[in-house]
Amino acid sequence: MRSEKSTTMNILEISNLSHRFADGTLGIDGISLSIREGEFAVIAGRNGSGKTTLLRHLNGLLLPSAGTVRVAGISVSENLLNARQTVGMVFQDADSQIVGETVFDDAAFGPENLCLPRAEIRKRVAEALEAVGLSGLEDRKPYLLSGGQKRRLAIAGVLAMKPKILVFDEPFSNLDYPGIRQVLSRILALHRSGHTILLTTHDLEKVIVHASRLMIMKNGKIVRDGNPDDILADTEQFGVRQPCASRLGMKIESWLN
Ligand SMILES: Nc1ncnc2c1ncn2[C@@H]1O[C@H](COP(=O)(O)OP(=O)(O)OP(=O)(O)O)[C@@H](O)[C@H]1O
Ligand SMILES: [Mg+2]
Repeated sequence: MRSEKSTTMNILEISNLSHRFADGTLGIDGISLSIREGEFAVIAGRNGSGKTTLLRHLNGLLLPSAGTVRVAGISVSENLLNARQTVGMVFQDADSQIVGETVFDDAAFGPENLCLPRAEIRKRVAEALEAVGLSGLEDRKPYLLSGGQKRRLAIAGVLAMKPKILVFDEPFSNLDYPGIRQVLSRILALHRSGHTILLTTHDLEKVIVHASRLMIMKNGKIVRDGNPDDILADTEQFGVRQPCASRLGMKIESWLN
């Protein structure tokens, strides 16, 4: 696990990024932004604002129609392997990310594709399952896990690739209160251990108190970007609910308290 403190290096640089889908829909419309190593950034925006489309450019699942995305200084289009090793992506639908017959096999899938030695794979899987609190469930069938456990298994599969940046697309959707707390506490621990975190959500209440930066998307553009305290009062005009406490001028409580 990495332990160095955050630096001012831009680990992610997006410049004039646009994405037009084959049917002509403009998913991303001229986005430029940088993310510093160690940041915890939240992207919010209503359905269809372009959050997932933006995230899919970070590891080359989509390539730009115009503009560039650089990960650790290297263009994603020119070096997909660098992007995929640096950016770990946990998708909105944990079920679709589960590929193994057992919890162990599932978490081992990524490192196996890197053709690492067996001993290294076992070590990485053990560390990743430990980091998400699933040690001891190695032989369990993934489809028998709870929603929160499945989401944590998806995180383990990504961690086993040892990425520096962790991207979570709606990590709390379909989880109950304990499930949200379990996943949130793992995300915060990963941030503390040195990972850069980028997370999308509709529901700022659950996470914003922990983030250092909030971006709001609308129609494929970033329309607000800055310190959450300065932006929260503006969110509702963009279809994102302002947390109750913030509306009342009170301090937002962490869901982990
Ligand atoms: N494969 C595709 N072909 C055409 N249009 C698409 C495709 N994928 C997404 N879009 C469109 O691009 C826009 C952005 O979609 P995207 O999924 O990025 O939004 P989102 O902010 O992630 O929404 P949600 O909150 O529902 O997850 C929407 O108008 C969507 O309909
Ligand atoms: Mg989405």
